Amino acid sequence: MSLDQSLSKILIIDFGSQFTQLIARRVRELGVFSEIVSHKKIKLKDINSSIKGIILSGGPLNVYQINKYSFNKKILQLDLPVLGICFGHQILSKINGGRVKQSKHREFGLANVYKKNNSLLTSNFFGNKKSKQVWMSHADQVSKLPKNFKVIASSTNSKFAIVENKIKKYYSVQFHPEVTHTENGKKLISNFIFLICKIKRNWSSKDKKNQLIEDVRKQVGNNKVICALSGGVDSSVVAQLLNKAIGKKLYCIFVNTGLLRKNEEVQVVQTFKKRLKINLIYVNAEKEFLKKLKNVSDPEKKRKIIGNLFIKIFERYAKKIKNVKFLAQGTLYPDLIESKSVTGSQTSKIKSHHNVGGLPKKMNLKLVEPLKFLFKDEVRKLGLELKLSKEIISRHPFPGPGLAIRMPGIITNEKIKILKEADYYFIQALKDYGLYHKIWQAYAALLPVKTVGVMGDNRTYEYLCLLRAITSEDGMTADYYEFKKPFIQSLSNKIVNSIRGINRVVYDVTSKPPSTIELE
Ligand code: XMP
Repeated sequence: MSLDQSLSKILIIDFGSQFTQLIARRVRELGVFSEIVSHKKIKLKDINSSIKGIILSGGPLNVYQINKYSFNKKILQLDLPVLGICFGHQILSKINGGRVKQSKHREFGLANVYKKNNSLLTSNFFGNKKSKQVWMSHADQVSKLPKNFKVIASSTNSKFAIVENKIKKYYSVQFHPEVTHTENGKKLISNFIFLICKIKRNWSSKDKKNQLIEDVRKQVGNNKVICALSGGVDSSVVAQLLNKAIGKKLYCIFVNTGLLRKNEEVQVVQTFKKRLKINLIYVNAEKEFLKKLKNVSDPEKKRKIIGNLFIKIFERYAKKIKNVKFLAQGTLYPDLIESKSVTGSQTSKIKSHHNVGGLPKKMNLKLVEPLKFLFKDEVRKLGLELKLSKEIISRHPFPGPGLAIRMPGIITNEKIKILKEADYYFIQALKDYGLYHKIWQAYAALLPVKTVGVMGDNRTYEYLCLLRAITSEDGMTADYYEFKKPFIQSLSNKIVNSIRGINRVVYDVTSKPPSTIELE
């Protein structure tokens, strides 16, 4: 277990709540660094002087399931302020001699909390009102407060909704201040970190940029670093950050699989090589990919072939650069957080993801992962700070296997050409109508069926184009975007009239789940 020691921070001990990442984000939005660590991993000796306060998250556990959570109580006796949230609230009471029991009335959803006493934690939280709406999600509740604890607010079903022990600097809430449904919830978190922990702001995009550049320089010294550039947000930010840090010692490899969006390769070379002056090796592997994918229609086979060939080509070119010691990757914080395994649940494999990030293990390179403490929105802000264009920073996600998984059935040159055009018209129309940034991801796909149509007086027999546009927070769940008729109608006309090979357009209205975002 190693925690970053260079910055003052709030430590979040995770008990498996679905909202733990949100707590960390809220703290960082307030300008303070925060780190998450699983309750199973944290040791007393990990609590170093950079930690200025501790937040105990919620979780699916019950305080009496002692064998399910292991947690050294001494961590809470180091004279550091503690904020308990939901399960964290219950465990803080239990540890200090209070009692927790199953609620007669479970509370899920909105509830009102009523002010009973003043507290630093609730300073300016209630404003001039007596109550505030909060988000509850619990089946157990604190039924008896420990000694020296005071009630600050109650709800109808939870007498001890906000409590404190001022001497010990223990504060806790039964509800979730980190979710947006809790009115003024961020104020509680802000009071905890600034009034109670007395920590100073240390987490702006500019601070981050300078510190990350410094860290990279320290880590790689005079050595060479390679990086797979895809043109997506994460790898673009990594490349530009390393470019600023080590300049020509960075070698980016960009592989054109032939399955990219229209003109993507031109744009990447233009932006990174010409404008940002990054050492970029452009590899045109269109033919190689198409040859390997010939007559393959199984989605998993397509993904494996593309992933493996990508790595082979990357290795081939990386070997040409002598004495490389490091590989840079765009790993983000959510990929690392241990909380994913807190409840021990195993999700079944839906698709084998191909990420340019998961690169060659056998090359024996050390990893540089400068974004590994950042969330996606922080990466975007950092990108802007690094002078990457807004266009790159706010692009929709694009999958590693590219158009191959937007073309069920076999892959041919003709299909790729048709699909690139359809996708281009779709994305362009979204931009023209100011819809692009309202949508999380959008794309066109080409279905492997031909249908009959009529154009002029002639019968046509051509492919079916499927359009998909979704809204989402993180790609884990998604809903379809509802277009107005004039937009979708004119787009459909444009696609059918302009692209030979498509005579029908359909719009995908399924959500995820039950569908996935991509078709394969
Ligand atoms: P699904 O289809 O699983 O997609 O609902 C969720 C998100 O992941 C993207 N995606 C990928 N991204 N490599 C990637 O880098 C992949 O192999 C891959 N497959 C899907 C997809 O575009 C969506 O944003």
